Amino acid sequence: MNDKGIIFDLDGVIVDTAKYHYLAWKKIADALGFEFTKAHNELLKGVSRTRSLEILLDIGKITLSDNEKQKKLISKNKDYLGYIEKMGADEILPGVLTVLDFLDENNIHYVLGSASKNAELILKQINLHHRFFGIVDGNAVSKAKPDPEVFLIGAHKLHLPPENCIVFEDAIAGVEAAKIANMTAIGIGDKETLSEADFVFNDFTEISEAFLYELLDSTKY
Ligand code: BG6
Ligand code: MG
Repeated sequence: MNDKGIIFDLDGVIVDTAKYHYLAWKKIADALGFEFTKAHNELLKGVSRTRSLEILLDIGKITLSDNEKQKKLISKNKDYLGYIEKMGADEILPGVLTVLDFLDENNIHYVLGSASKNAELILKQINLHHRFFGIVDGNAVSKAKPDPEVFLIGAHKLHLPPENCIVFEDAIAGVEAAKIANMTAIGIGDKETLSEADFVFNDFTEISEAFLYELLDSTKY
């Protein structure tokens, strides 16, 4: 089973940072004078920072100059980092550490495949950075999910062909990217939303050792 490797998304899979993204984007929307709801926030999951601002401005039907957009991006990230800097290992989502321990015990390498430019900082905050075999984050990619670039670089870091890689993702765009890359996609979240995934679990506590053994032993599903 050592011919398999894992690629983890970060936001929504290892930690729930969507709530912090929401608060930071809401502050921008408030300042621009329109309502930004939690339902709106769903549209930003898995999406790059720049694209998130475009979506936000569309919601508010606001047009800004490139210079103003840059200022909003800087201000949003500053606010977001204020929340991230307070994060600790207690924010690792339930069941994640059990799965990571299982992988370590079985010598299965895992890398990160995230759209976030803050991924390294977040992993350090929650004390997981040293456990990853490699990190692919928003600074390393030029094309956003559902483009498979982030996961293909991840496979390269694992020294494995894409079909031997298993991706954990919470976003539709991420599951799509994994499938385009010819990887096994495991959705974390709602079954109907992530219907393109090969398997879906509400969270990591639902993933049994038996499932992991089966997953890692078999070739592509
Ligand atoms: C993704 C999140 O992981 O990273 C998105 O799901 C976020 O919501 C994106 O916009 C970019 O994050 P950052 O930290 O670079 O602003
Ligand atoms: Mg995610």
